Amino acid sequence: NKKVSGPPDSEAREIQTAAVVGAGVMGQGIAAANVKRRIPVTLGDTSAEAIARGVQGVITEVSYNKETKKPDAQRALDFLPLLNGTENDAEVAQADIVIEAIYENAEAKRALYAKLEPQLGEQAILCSNTSTIPITELAHGLEHPERFCGLHFFNPVRQMPLVEVIRGKQTSGDTIATAVAYAKVIGKSPIVVQDGPGFLVNRVLLPYMNEALLLLESGASIKAVDKAAKSFGMPMGPIELYDTVGLDIALHAGKVMHEAFPDRVVPSKILPAMVEAGRIGKKADKGFFDYM
Ligand code: CAA
Repeated sequence: NKKVSGPPDSEAREIQTAAVVGAGVMGQGIAAANVKRRIPVTLGDTSAEAIARGVQGVITEVSYNKETKKPDAQRALDFLPLLNGTENDAEVAQADIVIEAIYENAEAKRALYAKLEPQLGEQAILCSNTSTIPITELAHGLEHPERFCGLHFFNPVRQMPLVEVIRGKQTSGDTIATAVAYAKVIGKSPIVVQDGPGFLVNRVLLPYMNEALLLLESGASIKAVDKAAKSFGMPMGPIELYDTVGLDIALHAGKVMHEAFPDRVVPSKILPAMVEAGRIGKKADKGFFDYM
């Protein structure tokens, strides 16, 4: 065990194996970050189809050859042994760190933890990739809330260095130190933040994105809003960012923020209508823009 910069008197546990539950866009990105740093990773989900899609997504990403700009079969073969896809909780629970990356629903997340926690090793830590739900709220019902924290990645995981490490009320210093050290090992730049709806980044980002939709409601064009944000220095405009994040994810995250800060975040009517129409962003090849 190595001492790392974390809370005073805390000790990081070494992470040799990881598991990610939820083989969607974020789960795939997190799993790929592990594979690239040669940490064996188990990718769990509830159906064979979701797992097959997830494994395919991870392999496509890690086998990308920067020179040819195409997936490379030799790289795929090289990385494949590091990735295990499974529907079996017991396999997931063998890892030193388990990262939950399922949909934004507190009850579903807690139900998953209730199944997984009794099977975890004594030193293992459990993390949530939630983008907005307070960690202390998700920790209700856990036997070992001290070994639970937030580990929030950003989309696209491959290109976003930042990871928020979120300290719940009962999270131990050792768990925080372990999550910080692990995030560095997989090539990320962790920051430790306090608990609360939206943590740090989404407290700032979601009101900004939502305000862009309110501008559209007042008659601004998508092009004008995105162009203005880009000219201001943003890497992409807020409307394209909705397509990148996923409108379904943004809708759930927006609800949490509205409930927490009703005076500050007025939900736009555009988002539920787009989700209803199946236009949920780049992952569906259609959102505010078309990606076919
Ligand atoms: N492996 C390695 N390289 C790859 C690759 C792979 N699998 N796939 C593609 N690449 C390469 C491309 O070939 C390209 O290479 P060259 O530059 O040499 O041609 C390179 O990666 C860059 O590709 P892009 O054109 O996609 O990159 P870009 O410069 O346009 O930047 C971006 C894209 C980083 C996403 C940038 O637009 C950005 O930062 N956007 C903002 C994203 C953001 O704010 N995310 C946070 C959202 S909030 C959230 O995540 C969830 C939440 O909590 C609500």
